[in-house]
Amino acid sequence: MREAPIGVFDSGVGGLSVLAEIQRLLPNESLLYVADCGNIPYGEKTPEFIRQRCSVMAEFFEHQGAKALVLACNTATVAGVADLRRDYPQWPIVGMEPAVKPAAAATRSGVVGVLATTGTLQSAKFAALLDRFATDVRVITQPCPGLVELIENGDLHSTALREMLEGYVGPLLGAGADTIILGCTHYPFLKPLLRQMIPDDISLIDTGAAVARQLQRLLADRQLLAEGPARPAQFWSSADPDHFANILPVLWNKAGVVRSFEA
Ligand code: DGL
Repeated sequence: MREAPIGVFDSGVGGLSVLAEIQRLLPNESLLYVADCGNIPYGEKTPEFIRQRCSVMAEFFEHQGAKALVLACNTATVAGVADLRRDYPQWPIVGMEPAVKPAAAATRSGVVGVLATTGTLQSAKFAALLDRFATDVRVITQPCPGLVELIENGDLHSTALREMLEGYVGPLLGAGADTIILGCTHYPFLKPLLRQMIPDDISLIDTGAAVARQLQRLLADRQLLAEGPARPAQFWSSADPDHFANILPVLWNKAGVVRSFEA
């Protein structure tokens, strides 16, 4: 069981930012990654639809013999993690949520900006997160429709992307935010561009590394950490696998075989 793989999924390529952190911290683990690119963007879908996709993914990973599940997607987590934990009590399940707690602790100006999907920002889970951790700071939220689609096409630098991003980040800076939460797993890929656009003293916070550490803790508690060696990561996409394979070297820094995910 220790050597069984870990299932990781996202609506698309965004979760590769989390997969990289998992592989860095847990190099002995064998990783399976499903990108539900045929249904992107999750951020504009209903919670019911996303919950249904979460169950499809979980069934697939169960069939693959996975020992743990990571929802490398904030939007899927707010919609689906509770149901998955109920339905798969045998698995360590790690979800992710915007890093409100560390951002509230880090801000000096008392203003925190959140870039995330519409689905994440409208969720009750996000509201609860603010109630719990953001009582002493001002939080400015900014949904970012359109951004995920550009990143899915491997666009991390174009003028159109920069202009869209300026429109989303501008109001946060204007409100005095000195800490910006990247609350969608696609956005860490925009860090190099964002760093060119915003002053050096503005912090960008994401949760990929924290997710990897939480996964490590849960696996260790259950004596499920692999001793290795890991098998190469395997990838599936519910849209054109060739498109995903072409983006892998850009976002994952390695080529990989991508299979078609049919469910
Ligand atoms: N990567 C996802 C997240 O972390 C969502 C992207 C989408 O809208 O599909 O929220």
